[in-house]
Amino acid sequence: MGLSLEVKKLRVGYDRADVLTDVSIVARAGEITCLLGANGAGKSTLVRAVLGLTPPREGEILLDGRSIAGLPTHRIAARGVGAIPEGRRVFPKLTVKENLRTGAYLERDGTVIARRFDEVYAIFPRLLERSSQLAGTLSGGEQAMLSIGRGLMGSPGLLVIDEPSLGLSPRFVKENFQVIRRIQSTGISVLLVEQNVHQTLDVAHRGYLLSGGRVVAEGTADELKQHPALVAAYFGGDGH
Ligand SMILES: Nc1ncnc2c1ncn2[C@@H]1O[C@H](COP(=O)(O)OP(=O)(O)O)[C@@H](O)[C@H]1O
Ligand SMILES: [Mg+2]
Repeated sequence: MGLSLEVKKLRVGYDRADVLTDVSIVARAGEITCLLGANGAGKSTLVRAVLGLTPPREGEILLDGRSIAGLPTHRIAARGVGAIPEGRRVFPKLTVKENLRTGAYLERDGTVIARRFDEVYAIFPRLLERSSQLAGTLSGGEQAMLSIGRGLMGSPGLLVIDEPSLGLSPRFVKENFQVIRRIQSTGISVLLVEQNVHQTLDVAHRGYLLSGGRVVAEGTADELKQHPALVAAYFGGDGH
């Protein structure tokens, strides 16, 4: 079942400078929560803190009410947080199947792993067709599918996806967002990090707009579509 995530008054930075200041967000269990913001807003830094890659300087990170702040990445993964990193990063010299298998590295039971392969191939039939193909020879859209499939192989309760539509053709962007809806419909909570505001707000339940390392807008997807901060920056002020 989906896990909830609560980030409270988070401060995160690199070297001397803070990137995130006083950031609080909630991702409810079973919902798609989006994190919007322009390049450099601090979205990936928040993702890095949640995944234990950059430990917070201040604040709380709670997964289903239990603190994960400062835990090493593999322990956070073991609690049920799956990650699909920015830029996808599939292993080009491994086959599709081998790439997927790496996503189940915490699982030892072969029967469970076989079932997860079946589930992922049901969502992405194209990955089954190409299971023996080297990942480096896939199209960008197929690599995006593979990176999401690999995240699902860990059977996460919360899936964190950092900019899945970056660099994809419009057709694949649309397909990708439909897939994210399908994943959520299986009970997995999703934290969707995106710059693609329009299509993200069409699939997300609620979300946050980050600017300069702070939350400047939050609410349901419908509220955000009307929010002055988003209308000004992304909707051209004419409501479309
Ligand atoms: N590893 C790092 N070391 C130093 N500064 C970083 C590092 N990663 C990101 N930053 C800085 O943090 C700010 C936010 O970056 P990032 O979280 O990647 O934003 P976004 O994902 O919203 O584009 C930027 O100014 C960026 O230069
Ligand atoms: Mg980023």
